[in-house]
Amino acid sequence: MADWLALDRASQRAWPALITERYDGWVLRYARGYTRRANSITPLVASSLPLARKVACCQRRYVEQGIEPVFRIVDRGPALGVDAWLAAAGWGKRDPTLVLCRPLDSTTAEARLLAAADDVDALGIEDWIDAFVRITCDGREQGPHREMLWRVATHSLRLMLQRDGQPVGCALAVLRDGWLSLLDVAVVQAWRRQGLGSLMLQRALAWGAAQGAVGAVLSVTATNKPARALYARLGFTASYAYWYRHPPI
Ligand SMILES: CC(C)(COP(=O)(O)OP(=O)(O)OC[C@H]1O[C@@H](n2cnc3c(N)ncnc32)[C@H](O)[C@@H]1OP(=O)(O)O)[C@@H](O)C(=O)NCCC(=O)NCCS
Repeated sequence: MADWLALDRASQRAWPALITERYDGWVLRYARGYTRRANSITPLVASSLPLARKVACCQRRYVEQGIEPVFRIVDRGPALGVDAWLAAAGWGKRDPTLVLCRPLDSTTAEARLLAAADDVDALGIEDWIDAFVRITCDGREQGPHREMLWRVATHSLRLMLQRDGQPVGCALAVLRDGWLSLLDVAVVQAWRRQGLGSLMLQRALAWGAAQGAVGAVLSVTATNKPARALYARLGFTASYAYWYRHPPI
């Protein structure tokens, strides 16, 4: 499958920050604090400036924006040198996350799945955000989330499942660089283990395959056993991993 750098780029573009800066081989993303993924520093390629100076400069930039400076460290390449430096400086490692992927084929299995998932609704952004908040009980201010969704509006599918007239499941599928990213996947507690998560993702995969995506990609916290089991059943396997480094207290 694709190399991890291409996958990482596609995944990050599918969950766009509101501001993205490049600084000597590092990517700095800001989205008014909504999700760490869109509000973190990712060292990607080897850099030339002294690390202590660079890290201090990044910290200042995030603090000025009222955002906690957090590094997102991938488990390979020059990022590992940065990780060792941060660890020695007391930055705490949190939430190891796996990036999983699987190939898509428009001509076979995925196309057939579409029919099986025909009661999954595709919503506009405002209706989908309402459903997302009800399903996840997410108390965060949704302004940045809304802006991020608008940025991918023309190449995404916002899915929602209802039961008894109530929204019970949601998922977001975004097509970027030929890859289908799956995000914001959730089913309300009372409706779990009844195949709804699978149904929504099958619908998303069918859509991605029909759009010509070569594969699907998603991130899952390593400790999230239910989600990992669901994704394994849908044929996803691990490609690479990342974790976060938070500043010393
Ligand atoms: C992950 C989640 C979306 C799964 O939704 P779901 O509707 O319960 O999933 P399904 O019923 O389609 O499960 C399909 C298969 O996944 C596996 N699975 C799902 N939940 C599981 C669990 N709690 N323990 C073990 N396996 C599980 C099983 O193999 C299951 O098939 P089975 O029930 O026939 O054994 C749901 O648990 C959820 O909303 N979790 C909180 C939000 C979250 O973590 N989202 C994912 C972020 S990456």
